[in-house]
Amino acid sequence: MIPAGGTLALRARVLSYDVQHLQPGETPVARFIEDGLVVIRDGIIQAVGEASELLEGLGPDQPVTDYRPFLLTAGFIDPHLHMPQTQVIASYGTELMEWLAKYTFPEESRYGDPAVADAAAQFLLRELLRNGTTTAVAFCTSHPQSAESFFSESARLGLRMIGGKVMMDRNAPPELTDTPERAHDETLALVQRWHGAGRLEVAITPRFAPTSTEAQLEVAGALAKAHPDLAIQTHLSENLGEIDFVRELFPWAEDYTAVYERYGLVRRRALFGHCIHLSERERRALAEHQATAVFCPTSNLFLGSGLFDRDGALAANLRMGLATDIGGGTSYSMLQTAGEGYKVLALRGQRLPGHAAFYMMTSGNADAIGFGDRIGQVAPGFEADLTILDARATAALRQRMERVETLEEELFALTVLGDERAVVATYAAGRRLHARGLAEPPPLA
Ligand code: GUN
Ligand code: ZN
Repeated sequence: MIPAGGTLALRARVLSYDVQHLQPGETPVARFIEDGLVVIRDGIIQAVGEASELLEGLGPDQPVTDYRPFLLTAGFIDPHLHMPQTQVIASYGTELMEWLAKYTFPEESRYGDPAVADAAAQFLLRELLRNGTTTAVAFCTSHPQSAESFFSESARLGLRMIGGKVMMDRNAPPELTDTPERAHDETLALVQRWHGAGRLEVAITPRFAPTSTEAQLEVAGALAKAHPDLAIQTHLSENLGEIDFVRELFPWAEDYTAVYERYGLVRRRALFGHCIHLSERERRALAEHQATAVFCPTSNLFLGSGLFDRDGALAANLRMGLATDIGGGTSYSMLQTAGEGYKVLALRGQRLPGHAAFYMMTSGNADAIGFGDRIGQVAPGFEADLTILDARATAALRQRMERVETLEEELFALTVLGDERAVVATYAAGRRLHARGLAEPPPLA
């Protein structure tokens, strides 16, 4: 465990958003301080304000790290990714169901080996930090060991993370299937060991309806009922072939969402990856139960799954997340993810302004996963998970910035042209865990 830091003072252009419930066409309101100071003590933000005002109150020996003209935002939050797919990313040429069978299941079969799972967890978390991401909601494999590796490494780094052991008892190779009993017992064991340990939480994780029997979905629902505070993560309505398969497997269900509703899996903090081909009834049902639809643009393009309807979700008051979906998704960068999100929405005649993208990556995603009061904002009382961004990180960005006049334009350009090269530093609980240009994590700031 890396020891917690003392007091830190960071000077930068500070950008933050309160949690906001937007209607189509509305842009989130930012709190922006051109010359701001963020004071952090023991991993928690103590004060945020104008540097000119706050500097006076600092002790004479308090060092100040001056990041101007860089932006300081809340650390990015990635509400949907797959820990065991770092070596599936960029596998060629298939759509969802074939991609799962051809690349993903064979790869996930390796994760019963603790050495494989440990190495992947270490790689993934390092890569997320390099990209400015401080919290993720992760599917592991059906092997409890894979979740063990994910949680151990997250604990070592002091990160706020949510993870879950995949439940999957049909339509997958035998080396990857569990049973309803094992899914229950192994999830419960993880809850007892990791839920609430440090900043970690366990999510109930049925992979998706096609790979769970009704008996297993019942078990997932029973766990959800017994533990109303647990997050739930799964997939919903990503691909037309998948939807046909669900219709065959659950002939009694009115639609795909109704399958999860039947088992009590649609509720606050239930995170549904993709939600591309929803009917109006499904959108309404998800919104009424306060569930979250997670938009994964690079994955939706890569697997040819379809175009997410953000305005439809906003109009239905359906909570939304924006996520990478590594390794159906093709980038670890939330900036790139937002930039591709813009293009997906453009194909539907919709838009994603820079402020809306930064809102989604920070406090919007925090609210989506139920952590809106702890992370996602640069505000007193919030955990000091922070990202420092350089909007002139590359030649292309520098060239563009010469003609940029507003913060909105700067943020938008960062989403279209930015990636990990724009991430100057990443802090988690007030500790600097990434600094640009250093191959290894820096000594503690
Ligand atoms: N649906 C069920 N499993 C998966 C997965 O691993 N990735 C994606 N994109 N969709 C899924
Ligand atoms: Zn996924």
